[in-house]
Amino acid sequence: MDFLPFTRPTIDDEVIRLVTEVLRSGWITTGPKVNEFEKSLAAYVSSDTGKVPYVKVFTSATGALETALQVMGIGEGDEVIVPAMTFTASANVVALVGAKPVLVDVDLKTRNLTIEGVKKAITSRTKCIMPVHFAGLPVDMDPLYELAKQHNIRVLEDAAHAIGTRYKNRKIGSFGDMISFSFHPNKNMTTIEGGALVLWKEAEAQQVDLLRFHGLQKDAFGNMDVLMPARKFNMPDVSAAVGIAQLKRLDEFCSKRLKLVDTYYQLLNHPLLNLPERGDDGHCWHIFSPLINFTQLGMTRPQFIQKMADEKIGIGVHYQALTTFTAYKDMGYSCPQAERIGRETVTLPLFPAMTKVDVERVCQTVLRYLN
Ligand SMILES: Cc1ncc(COP(=O)(O)O)c(C=O)c1O
Repeated sequence: MDFLPFTRPTIDDEVIRLVTEVLRSGWITTGPKVNEFEKSLAAYVSSDTGKVPYVKVFTSATGALETALQVMGIGEGDEVIVPAMTFTASANVVALVGAKPVLVDVDLKTRNLTIEGVKKAITSRTKCIMPVHFAGLPVDMDPLYELAKQHNIRVLEDAAHAIGTRYKNRKIGSFGDMISFSFHPNKNMTTIEGGALVLWKEAEAQQVDLLRFHGLQKDAFGNMDVLMPARKFNMPDVSAAVGIAQLKRLDEFCSKRLKLVDTYYQLLNHPLLNLPERGDDGHCWHIFSPLINFTQLGMTRPQFIQKMADEKIGIGVHYQALTTFTAYKDMGYSCPQAERIGRETVTLPLFPAMTKVDVERVCQTVLRYLN
C-alpha cells in the first residue's frame, strides 16, 4: 500500500507540456505567460459578475500581502486586525511593514475571526482588517465590509486557502477591497510557489507594479528611474505556465474536494472528534482538519501522527496559534479558541487525486485509534 500524504498537487500532462514549452522558448522569467495568467485569473474571478478586477501575480502570497499593506500605506503606528488562527505569514507581513498585528480569537467551528471579535479590537489606530478564509470556508464578508466602511478601515482578505470558494454565490476575489491568493503546492491550485493580489483601483495596481519589482519605472524610450526602494516578487513564466493549466481545472478540483469531504462527514463521528464547520456547495475545501481531544484520548498529537504514519497515512498540523509563537506570545493577546485549535487540530488527507476508498481507509484508521 502506498503512503497517503495529507496533500499532493495534481500535476497533469498539460502542466508538463506548457512548462516544457516555456523552458524551450528561451524566455523563462516574467513575460508573456505571466501576462496570460493574470488575464485568466481576472477572467476566472469575474466570470459570474463581469466586473473585471486588476490581478497581479507574485512569487508568493506572502509577497502579495506585504505589497498590499504597502499600497494601503500601512506602517509605523498603525494596527491591523489578524486572526490568531492562521499561517504566520498573515501577521508577519504586518510586523514587517512596521505596523502592529492585533491578534483576535476565532470561532471554534469555523476557525474564522468573528465580527464581534473584530468590533472589540478596533481602535483609532486600526487601518486594516485581514480576514483569513480558513480552510476555504468564507468569513461572513457582508457584515465585515459594512463594519470596515463605518470605521473607514481597509480590508485585505487573506484568501490563501480560498481560491475557487464562493461567498453567497459570489467568488472570493469578485468583490471587496484587496484579496490575496496563494499558489503554494498545498493550495487548491499551484504555481509551485506563487500568489496573486486582486484589486480594483488603477492607481493602486500601478503601485503594485513598482513595489513588486525594485520600484523601477521605464519610460517609452527605455529611460529608467527608481521611484522608491522596493522588493523583488516577480513570478517567472515557468510558474505562470503551471498556473494557467491548473486554473483550467480548478473548479473540477474543488468539486472533487467537496465530494471527498462529504465522505469524511458521513463516516467520521466520535465523541472525541470535533469536526469543522461545513460551508455550502461554494466551499472549496482547502484542508479538512477536525480537532481531537488528545487529553481524553490519552495520547499526544505526535504519538497519533506517528501511529497514522505507521499505517501509511500522512497527517498535517494547521496551525499552531500565533499567540504561542516566540515572536507574538508576549504581546498580551488571549485567544483561547485559537490556542485550543492549535493543540487539537489534525489535517487529514485531502487532495483531488484521492478516492473515496482512501477516505474510507483514513476514517477507519482514525476511528480505530479513537476507540
Ligand atoms: C493563511 C495563509 N496566508 C498566507 C500564506 C502564505 O502563502 P505563500 O506560501 O504563498 O507565501 C499561507 C501559506 O500557507 C497561508 O496558509
